[in-house]
Amino acid sequence: MLDPKDLRQAFGRFMTGVTVVTTRTETGENVGFTANSFTSVSLDPPLLLVCPGNHLSSFDAFRQATRFGVSILSEGQQEISNTFASSKADRFALCDWDQPVGDIPLITGRAAGFVCDMFQQIPAGDHLVLIGRVLHADCTHQDGLGYGPDGYFTLNKERKAEAPTAPHTRASVLLDDGENLFLTQDDGLFTISVPTDKSPLRTLASALATAGIDAELSVVYATYDEGKAGRRIVFRGHCSQRPSALKLVPIDAPDASATPDPAIKSLLQRFASEHKTQNFGFYIGNERTGDVLPLNER
Ligand SMILES: Cc1cc2nc3c(=O)[nH]c(=O)nc-3n(C[C@H](O)[C@H](O)[C@H](O)COP(=O)(O)O)c2cc1C
Repeated sequence: MLDPKDLRQAFGRFMTGVTVVTTRTETGENVGFTANSFTSVSLDPPLLLVCPGNHLSSFDAFRQATRFGVSILSEGQQEISNTFASSKADRFALCDWDQPVGDIPLITGRAAGFVCDMFQQIPAGDHLVLIGRVLHADCTHQDGLGYGPDGYFTLNKERKAEAPTAPHTRASVLLDDGENLFLTQDDGLFTISVPTDKSPLRTLASALATAGIDAELSVVYATYDEGKAGRRIVFRGHCSQRPSALKLVPIDAPDASATPDPAIKSLLQRFASEHKTQNFGFYIGNERTGDVLPLNER
């Protein structure tokens, strides 16, 4: 024996859009309900279906209707969906609606809308399958409102949640004492990740202090895009004493560093040649190409 609760839950795994199905009674009253049982059926002839349940206060109105409308709700129309899914007195007074064809109301601001002639009705258990022949269809560029096991969802919101947040920044320091460079044990630069909204300079300074490295940070020596990894900012730093945690490499022998990172390798080579003339530049670009601008005013 199927448990109706389990069945409802299983049916609810099917993600859908949300529509409001509407009609006007013979006495001129607008009625409507929220429905996710909408399905496109046929292009030729143009047919769609929706399934009103016999629990609806408007069930008889739909059974007797010769025309009905379907509004596919757009993102941001959750309130309208809730209005037409709960027993509120005059639902049409709580939203804007229009009548593109005849006197069938459609919800204004919809993602798409249809007005149909009743084509066929098929009683099916506690629901009625209404098949409509489409007389009018309109469509906007708005995304439709989604409905799934966790309630409403919107494509834009989901897309935003997946989109990368602010690009990640790493801050490094090119440390020297005038003759030697101080590199990490794996021949790289001392580098930290900078949390979003934090100052790269101050975050780097406090990380150096925590690591017991006494250094005075000065200018930005390079900044470059590292593709998906984000952005790297390299500061210069002066040490008056060799930091014990770091490895010493003579400035004029940058190839003594076996760094596997080509961007760091070329940065060390540039520093070696600039150090000879004491004319330092500032690199801006990406990991492979960029420009070096003079740092010293000539
Ligand atoms: C997302 C969603 C989809 C729904 N789909 C249907 C449906 O396809 N058929 C149906 O009869 N009721 C459906 N309902 C329930 C009716 O909208 C709800 O029972 C409505 O308030 C009944 O109207 P009434 O108060 O006039 O009886 C759905 C409700 C929600 C929230």
